[in-house]
Amino acid sequence: MLKGRRILMCVSGGIAAYKAPFVVRELKKRGADVRIVVTESAKQFVTPQTLGVLSRNKVYSDLFCGDSEFAVVHVGLAEWAECVAIVPATANIIAKAAHGVADDLLSTLLLSVECPVVMAPAMEHKMLLNPAVKENVEKLRTRGWGWIEPESGDLASGARGRGRLPEPKHIVDIIEGNFNCSDLNGLKILVTAGPTFEDVDPVRFIGNRSTGKMGYAVAKRAKFRGADVTLISGPTNLEAIEGIETVLVRSAKEMHSECIRLFEGSDIAILAAAVSDYRPMEKLDRKIKRHKPNISIDLTENEDIAAELGASKEDRKVVLFAMETESDITNAKDKLKGKQGDIVVVNNLLVDGAGFGHDTNVVTIIDRFGKVLELPKMSKDDVANKILDCLVEFNSGNSSFDLD
Ligand SMILES: Cc1cc2nc3c(=O)[nH]c(=O)nc-3n(C[C@H](O)[C@H](O)[C@H](O)COP(=O)(O)O)c2cc1C
Repeated sequence: MLKGRRILMCVSGGIAAYKAPFVVRELKKRGADVRIVVTESAKQFVTPQTLGVLSRNKVYSDLFCGDSEFAVVHVGLAEWAECVAIVPATANIIAKAAHGVADDLLSTLLLSVECPVVMAPAMEHKMLLNPAVKENVEKLRTRGWGWIEPESGDLASGARGRGRLPEPKHIVDIIEGNFNCSDLNGLKILVTAGPTFEDVDPVRFIGNRSTGKMGYAVAKRAKFRGADVTLISGPTNLEAIEGIETVLVRSAKEMHSECIRLFEGSDIAILAAAVSDYRPMEKLDRKIKRHKPNISIDLTENEDIAAELGASKEDRKVVLFAMETESDITNAKDKLKGKQGDIVVVNNLLVDGAGFGHDTNVVTIIDRFGKVLELPKMSKDDVANKILDCLVEFNSGNSSFDLD
């Protein structure tokens, strides 16, 4: 998939820059055409000579260098690139990019690029947890930048924590997954996300811990890969994604009617929302007052959206999500069969870093023919890409899941 792809690998000045040559080697091994930009600080950690030899291309560093190929280097490189990967990304370049600072070649070209950008932050865990860094990262991710989840382990300072650059092969897998391959061009994809709230009285509701991050990541990545995406979202704190029609709902009932309406014109439904199975029999007009030690609320079953879409799908595809508190995937397989889905994404809520609220997830993807793909802990963006990869495989009639 990377054969002939033009990747601009940007190295900023963190200790993990010493791993950049291995990433370049892996990109070249997979057939990419790689050009390199290094910051002045990066040169303290890795030599341009090494990166130039491995990429078999010129290494750029100076904004004012002039170049026979590009009249203006930062504009030329930005136009040349099909994907920009910042590996490693320092707290400094993340801050500069988030705020539009343009004071060297890398920061200036980042303001010119229109292709996908993927950042692989690496830094001390205290830096990564700093609110300023977190805010800057969030800004860039909201703008659609890809994110390669830093690993936990021994850090350069001698401390242990989250902040290590992952292994080069993993980084290149993610770059490949984030690549704007347009493989979903022409497809209409319906994505659901977030929780549902089932009102009990004017102030109380029955909800769940879903934040919508997984569904929003799927929607964003699907759009990135060329799909025409409609998102049906339960109540979340997430910002709307530019270019995606978003229908806001509150209850399972509303989610159900919007799903039925919008599935009509869709090719694929990806049901990442955590829809409540039950709702109160009645919503009271007045707040329930404290009046006796025990009270009960009668619940009634909500419509089964997945089963209804599955039963009516004909040649359309339905992707289900299963939240398990056991690692047993038999339940998920039964769910897939029972609801006539095509793919089920199972996450085990008891695994560290998986499920509600986290930026990461640990999932197993199972298709209708019983093929199983177990994934390690990844960012939700990367999980979203893997789900879409599986869908593309499945849609093409080849469900081998041979993704590497
Ligand atoms: C020994 C050493 C190691 C460093 N490692 C990191 C790092 O891992 N991550 C980071 O964000 N900054 C790190 N820094 C700080 C950056 O080098 C510094 O913020 C610099 O301005 C980054 O410039 P750049 O973003 O233009 O490359 C380190 C600095 C030193 C002296």
